Amino acid sequence: MKKVITYGTFDLFHIGHLNLLRRAKELGDYLIVAVSTDRFNLEEKGKICAISDVDRMEIVRAIRYVDEVIPEDSWDQKVKDCKKYGIDVFVMGDDWKGKFDFLKDEGVEVVYLPRTEGISSTKIKHDLKEPAKK
Ligand code: CTP
Repeated sequence: MKKVITYGTFDLFHIGHLNLLRRAKELGDYLIVAVSTDRFNLEEKGKICAISDVDRMEIVRAIRYVDEVIPEDSWDQKVKDCKKYGIDVFVMGDDWKGKFDFLKDEGVEVVYLPRTEGISSTKIKHDLKEPAKK
C-alpha cells in the first residue's frame, strides 16, 4: 500500500484545500493529513485561526480522500512521522517548493502540487473584513 502524507492548517476549509487533498490521494492508496494545532499556528507561525484545531481536524477527517488525521505541533516532526507511518510520498502545495527536499534523504518521494489560483484562508479573512475591495 502506497502511503501519502501532507501538512497544513486548513482554516476556513476551501476549494484549494479540497483540490490539494484530492490530488494528494491520487498519488497513493492511503492519505494521512497532519493538521496544525492552534498552539503551533499561534506560537510558531504567528497565525490566528478562525476555527479551532479540534474542529479543523474533524472537518478534514470527514473529507472522502482522507484516511487518517494527525496533529502537527512542531516543524521537525516530519522525519519522525514519515518513519512512524511508513510514508512513501510527501505532498505540499508549491508555495513550499524546495523546503522539504531533505525528506528525499529518508527515501520519501517529495511532490509539490500547484496551488489553486485565487483563494486562501488569508484572502477569505481579508475579503470578509473588506468586502468592498474584493
Ligand atoms: N493550498 C492549495 N491551494 C490554495 C491554498 C492552499 O493548494 N489556494 C494548499 C497549500 O499549498 C497547502 C495546503 O493547501 O499544501 C494547506 O494550506 P493552508 O496553509 O492551510 O491554506 P492557505 O489557504 O494557504 O492558508 P493561509 O492563507 O493561512 O496561508
